[in-house]
Amino acid sequence: MVFHYGQEIFEGMKAFYQTRTHGASLFRPEMNAERLITSAKRMAMEPLPKEYFLEAIHRLISLERHWVPTVFGSALYIRPTEIATEAAIGLRSSKEYLFYIILSPVGPYFSEGFKPISIFVEPEYIRAVKGGTGEAKTGGNYAASLLALQNALKAGCDQVLWLDAIEHKYVEEVGTMNQFFVIDDVIYTAPLEGTILRGVTRDSVITLARDNGYKVKEQPLSIDTIIESINSENLTEAFGAGTAASIAPVGKLVYNGKKYVINNNQVGEITKTIYEKLTSIQYGKIDDPYNWNVPIKE
Ligand SMILES: Cc1ncc(COP(=O)(O)O)c(C=O)c1O
Repeated sequence: MVFHYGQEIFEGMKAFYQTRTHGASLFRPEMNAERLITSAKRMAMEPLPKEYFLEAIHRLISLERHWVPTVFGSALYIRPTEIATEAAIGLRSSKEYLFYIILSPVGPYFSEGFKPISIFVEPEYIRAVKGGTGEAKTGGNYAASLLALQNALKAGCDQVLWLDAIEHKYVEEVGTMNQFFVIDDVIYTAPLEGTILRGVTRDSVITLARDNGYKVKEQPLSIDTIIESINSENLTEAFGAGTAASIAPVGKLVYNGKKYVINNNQVGEITKTIYEKLTSIQYGKIDDPYNWNVPIKE
């Protein structure tokens, strides 16, 4: 049934090599377990009990721990997936599901150093609307995004920045990341109102930023305000946050055929600070006051 009606949900997480203990740790895996349940409910699928999800990942990584790369910036990517497997054709939810986990070592996202990326502000297509499936991590959301991604790549950009579905005005998120903008030293990100993914990295960035003395506002921000603030140089930094890149500085926006350069295409101070704090915790370089790291049992 997955092939006909798209009942498919997944997660994306990583096991990180710990520089001081030499073991491997998961980063806030309970949040992924909870998000898979949220996705399952929205897609009318069978939710997987949290304990089962966590136990399955621990056992698998424990067996495959030699695949966790030791180089800083690399990790063992974990892709837990649930699909509808009933062999039927009528439109209804499946009565059978398969849960499986794929693992793959991944190299550093920034192979040529921590360099800013370019994003294409999509003026026409939309990713999600309130009441839709935007908050679920389901394949269909990504299928619907690919045409815009092709256009972004043609325009020389790395990713798409989505605007809201009603007014095409408020920024939502980037292809595989939640998006942050720094204006007058305040960090802005879109609120969780059902259209964007509840990013694990997003939540961690907000906590780290506030605990390091920065002001964070989860509120709608219009693309017009962003463009004006870039032009007046009040917008000093922009970055994406997600499991794949951790933090991706954004140096350029392309919107309606025009290019807007942020901070001379250089990585800003706040972006650098958050990136260093986050990755130092993930790789066990510094103490983890939040208990975000969950060590894999040997
Ligand atoms: C659409 C979308 N938004 C945001 C994120 C970031 O979420 P996380 O920080 O949990 O990886 C992802 C990545 O999984 C994503 O695919």
